[in-house]
Amino acid sequence: MASGQLSREEALACVGCRHACHILLYADTEAQLFEEIPIRHIVLMQMRFDGLLGFPGGLVEPSEESLEEGLSRELWEELGFSLSVTVEDHVSSCHNPSSSSSHPITHFYARRMEEKEIREVEKAAASTATDHGHEVMGMVRVPLYTLKGGGGGLPSFLSHSFIGNSRSQLEDALVRFGLVTPEELQTALKHAAQRRK
Ligand code: GTP
Ligand code: MN
Ligand code: MN
Ligand code: MN
Ligand code: MN
Ligand code: MN
Repeated sequence: MASGQLSREEALACVGCRHACHILLYADTEAQLFEEIPIRHIVLMQMRFDGLLGFPGGLVEPSEESLEEGLSRELWEELGFSLSVTVEDHVSSCHNPSSSSSHPITHFYARRMEEKEIREVEKAAASTATDHGHEVMGMVRVPLYTLKGGGGGLPSFLSHSFIGNSRSQLEDALVRFGLVTPEELQTALKHAAQRRK
């Protein structure tokens, strides 16, 4: 099978493939940084046990559970929050190159929430989630603004290291859901590339 995007159904038809499902949780916010810079949206990622950034979610066993049931189970483990994910939340599926046991097909989901619900997720993730301090070192919010001078904010965030293709999942989703404009993302990526030099 070639690498790249495929439908949820094509992905499930793959015999012997492993599957992983992750989700982007986001909300609008009126909050401002330093009473001056609009935060605009809250976007959640996590610091993983391996020191890489990624989305909450994990490996799913399609012979035992649907992709969405498996993702909901992972969210209970990693966030301590009960959220029933549906097919409507599905965004994309990606078959990675050299797909082997270490590279599952990755399914990406997104769910828009209220700011209040996002705060509840953050609270649960830091207290009752069974994986807190084990698989998950903590939830983080993605800064969407770029500070004066060009480097701080989203550019710095994007210059960290990410698991699998979660960095491109983030970039695609930010534009797809109108959380930043394509121009803002391009500018941030340019500054991020300079930071990594
Ligand atoms: P265990 O319970 O320890 O098995 O972990 P898990 O089920 O939570 O799995 P994990 O979240 O680590 O995801 C499984 C695999 O999917 C990882 O080894 C990565 O290859 C990939 N992966 C992890 N997070 C992401 C992500 O946010 N996006 C994408 N595209 N892939 C990810
Ligand atoms: Mn302060
Ligand atoms: Mn997990
Ligand atoms: Mn996980
Ligand atoms: Mn797991
Ligand atoms: Mn686990």
